Amino acid sequence: MAAAHLLIISLLCTLSVDRCLGACAEVDSDTEAVAGQGFKLGCISCKRRSEVDASASVEWYFTPKGESGSFAIYTYNEEGPTIQNDHFMDRVDWNGSKRSNDIQDASIYLLNVTFNDSGTYQCFFNRILSYENYEYNTIVSKVVHLTVVAKATRGTASIVSEVMMYVSIIGLQVWLLIEMIYCYRKIAAAGEEALREAANAEYLAIASESKDNCAGVQVGE
Ligand SMILES: *[C@@H]1O[C@H](CO)[C@@H](O)[C@H](O)[C@H]1NC(C)=O
Ligand SMILES: *[C@@H]1O[C@H](CO)[C@@H](O)[C@H](O)[C@H]1NC(C)=O
Ligand SMILES: *[C@@H]1O[C@H](CO)[C@@H](O)[C@H](O)[C@H]1NC(C)=O
Repeated sequence: MAAAHLLIISLLCTLSVDRCLGACAEVDSDTEAVAGQGFKLGCISCKRRSEVDASASVEWYFTPKGESGSFAIYTYNEEGPTIQNDHFMDRVDWNGSKRSNDIQDASIYLLNVTFNDSGTYQCFFNRILSYENYEYNTIVSKVVHLTVVAKATRGTASIVSEVMMYVSIIGLQVWLLIEMIYCYRKIAAAGEEALREAANAEYLAIASESKDNCAGVQVGE
């Protein structure tokens, strides 16, 4: 009985771990590369039916900026990777799914990006799903519009929020300082006032006392 429980629990654990490790999310590619550096062109297509065996081959096409014709630059299939165009010779590495024909991540890595690499990249998944009695062929494609810049630029929103952060920090400090000076002055003034009042009170007390004394003296006369 206990053994059966243990078996079921361990089975559930393996299943959920498998699911976690095999989790696939179709994250969009970055679209801004820096000249002279490497860049990962992302392309992910998750298999909808994770329980069905599949194999996929991948083709990447490129349309240079300002041109209309696209051409093949890279393929990846059961025979491995092939670079198809001289412009990309020795500059492309596979960054996708490893050790499997069941490719879901077809990302490639561009080495030493140049301004001539700006343009539109498109990846095609040619996926064959193997059901018991038949095969089902699907084609999925994704597009990446790549811009090459001299230096990494930051989004305006991030710059604005950084400036706002400094403005608000300095503003708060100044406000705190003014408040402190104001309070200090107020306290000092109040102190003086209190002293003056105390002195007055003492003077009055003395005065009235002496008056009493005088009266007493007068009465005594
Ligand atoms: C992608 O490939 C490049 C070049 O081979 C390598 O430096 C980089 O670590 C790889 N990145 C991933 C996420 O595999
Ligand atoms: C990158 O390309 C530039 C110009 O094409 C070249 O001078 C440089 O040596 C290359 N760097 C690497 C790491 O390949
Ligand atoms: C970029 O393209 C232009 C025009 O085709 C060519 O003259 C230039 O040499 C290319 N630059 C690089 C770094 O490939």
